Amino acid sequence: MEFPVRTDNPAKVETACLIVPVFQQGELLPAAAKLDDASERLIGRLIERGDFEAKPGNVQLVPFAPGLSADRLLLVGLGKREKCQERTFIKALDAAFTAIVNFKLPDVATAFADVPVGERDLAWKCRMMAEAAQRAVYRFDTFKSEKAPLPQLESVTLLLSGGDSSEQARQGARIGSAVGDGVALARTLGNLPGNICTPTYLAEQAEQLGRESGGVLSVEILDEAALEALGAHSLLAVGRGSEEPTRLIVMRYQGADNAAEAPHVLVGKGITFDTGGISLKPGEAMDEMKFDMCGAASVFGTAKAVLGIRPQLNLVFIVAAAENMPDGRATKPGDIIKTLKGLTVEVLNTDAEGRLVLCDALTYAERFEPASVVDIATLTGAAIIALGHHATGLLANDDDLALDLLEAGEAAWDRAWHLPLWDEYQEQLDSNFADLGNIGGRPAGTITAACFLSRFADKFPWAHLDIAGTAWHSGKQKGASGRPVGLLTQYLLDREEEVRQIENES
Ligand code: BES
Ligand code: MN
Ligand code: ZN
Repeated sequence: MEFPVRTDNPAKVETACLIVPVFQQGELLPAAAKLDDASERLIGRLIERGDFEAKPGNVQLVPFAPGLSADRLLLVGLGKREKCQERTFIKALDAAFTAIVNFKLPDVATAFADVPVGERDLAWKCRMMAEAAQRAVYRFDTFKSEKAPLPQLESVTLLLSGGDSSEQARQGARIGSAVGDGVALARTLGNLPGNICTPTYLAEQAEQLGRESGGVLSVEILDEAALEALGAHSLLAVGRGSEEPTRLIVMRYQGADNAAEAPHVLVGKGITFDTGGISLKPGEAMDEMKFDMCGAASVFGTAKAVLGIRPQLNLVFIVAAAENMPDGRATKPGDIIKTLKGLTVEVLNTDAEGRLVLCDALTYAERFEPASVVDIATLTGAAIIALGHHATGLLANDDDLALDLLEAGEAAWDRAWHLPLWDEYQEQLDSNFADLGNIGGRPAGTITAACFLSRFADKFPWAHLDIAGTAWHSGKQKGASGRPVGLLTQYLLDREEEVRQIENES
């Protein structure tokens, strides 16, 4: 999709549809006012007559536009001016682009850059427009015999008013478009069923991303023999009950001027289906455990966004992929395994498998001498109890890193919330028979899961994102969300900016 930027008179813009945001009360925004003047007060009169009520997310197609070069108008409600925050802005965007896609319009121009949203700048608004447009055209109907016609939307012109910087708008749209591509990839990988999206399939996706990148992304796949030789017995223990072979996927992106610059590492939980293993889950909604690789999907999605943006950074993307199944050879409760780090773990519950694959991946990350390591995982049902479906859980062994991630989440509007990782919680993992157990009991399940991981993250600044509540939607809208690709991409771009500032100072 294209996002051209234009600063000329909106009345003269030739397009299938002009998207015009309006507040419930008060004056029209600058572009809307110009359109109103050029069209014999069409917009003002529709509002005065009560034919359009500008509630947040309300939309109204006006199928003709006298005096304007556009074929149509789409009025979009923003609610009350003083209540217009990020949430309303994005809700209005989603409503607008969903309508545009439903009307099968090929090209549109939007005046959303005019909308005041707290302290948000033009680049942010343009980024959100690009992300919303990409969200609206997303389809997942690979397995439907009858497919709805593909969305036609190909071009979204960003209209700016006087004084706005086209360069800022273009920058924002460029980031938003790349994030949108990354989110779409993460959603598709998440939505694919467990019988298609296996660890082998994820490894092939990595190879494909490597090929698409023209060699910018180098890919290495460790198979079971390689993992055995390495000593990654914890990762292997999770896949033992499955016919699908386990994989550790490593993708490297070298974008920094200095090849030796310490990389930032992302580690994704890639359980392509989580039955619970011998500690079998109850049947209800078990299908949703195909989403248990959404951490991995977000790592792929972020890699995709990075390939679109090409920041000057060194990065390593790691995915620990396995299927958790019960079987004669499966790991059993009480089994003791030796991790790649050398610590022994008593597996008290085979359903606490995410931490078992991640701990070896974290140890593997040590070899890159990373500047930071962030793991992303649908790790605990307790994260849903604690935070619901809006905030991603964030835990870290380094407060600066935690703050960087919180800020990235705010900036990308893909937010996380910091939970404590105090030493007091660590003793819940004590085991009578091994160095540690893999469960910490009912209290603070999200925190004790992070405590487990922290034992394997003592060599670098590390943070953990528990996306159990945010990676997918249940119910009628069932499907992967693509979160937290926005947060992660922003986090990485902020690191690039940080390096740039340090270089300018010296
Ligand atoms: N993948 C699940 C966590 C999960 C459950 C995410 C439901 C989203 C929705 C994870 O592997 C798991 O089963 N965790 C257990 C841990 C427990 C056994 C300590 C859980 O949360 O119940
Ligand atoms: Mn589990
Ligand atoms: Zn799981």
